[in-house]
Amino acid sequence: MNVLDAITKRRSVRQFRPGDVPDSDLKKILQAGRCAPSGYNLQNKEFVVIRDPETIARFQQVQKSFENVPVVIAVVMTPGKTPSGGSYWVEDCAACVENMLLAITGLGYASVWVEGTLLRHEPWVKELLGVPEDKRLLVILPVGHAAEPGEMARKAPLDEIVHYERYGQRKPKVE
Ligand SMILES: Cc1cc2nc3c(=O)[nH]c(=O)nc-3n(C[C@H](O)[C@H](O)[C@H](O)COP(=O)(O)O)c2cc1C
Repeated sequence: MNVLDAITKRRSVRQFRPGDVPDSDLKKILQAGRCAPSGYNLQNKEFVVIRDPETIARFQQVQKSFENVPVVIAVVMTPGKTPSGGSYWVEDCAACVENMLLAITGLGYASVWVEGTLLRHEPWVKELLGVPEDKRLLVILPVGHAAEPGEMARKAPLDEIVHYERYGQRKPKVE
């Protein structure tokens, strides 16, 4: 699947049917995360891959989207500043998560960006996974097979969000 198709086919899937994700595909997904851009190229991200069904079952306490999920990727970030004083680690996390979501879609699997619900549970999930105190556990991605194809969520049409040359100019100038 080309990247533009993956962008339009990606959906947040919260219900999965049983089915495996082989290590060969998992590696491609992790490679997509690895290749993401990062501020100052700090690459301050690490991934914890979880296949243990007991651990995955515990994620149901975060939100009920982990049933029938064969593998979960937890994204661990090292907060910090670049030498020029910028703090980009949250953006770095987002870039690598989106890369992985697109790879997951491209390979025919499904996922959902679990961050909002994780936030409230971060301390015990960090402990569960043995993540060091000074790191942040920002996102967990279930990776599996969608129970249903699912519709694209509503996206604002381009004419509501695009401006030409200056903010407020809704149409491109015709010469
Ligand atoms: C920063 C961020 C945090 C999110 N956190 C959650 C979450 O905790 N649980 C969840 O089910 N979806 C979460 N989502 C997914 C959004 O709800 C979803 O992207 C949005 O509803 C649009 O749907 P779509 O992904 O199918 O386009 C999150 C998305 C982003 C970008």
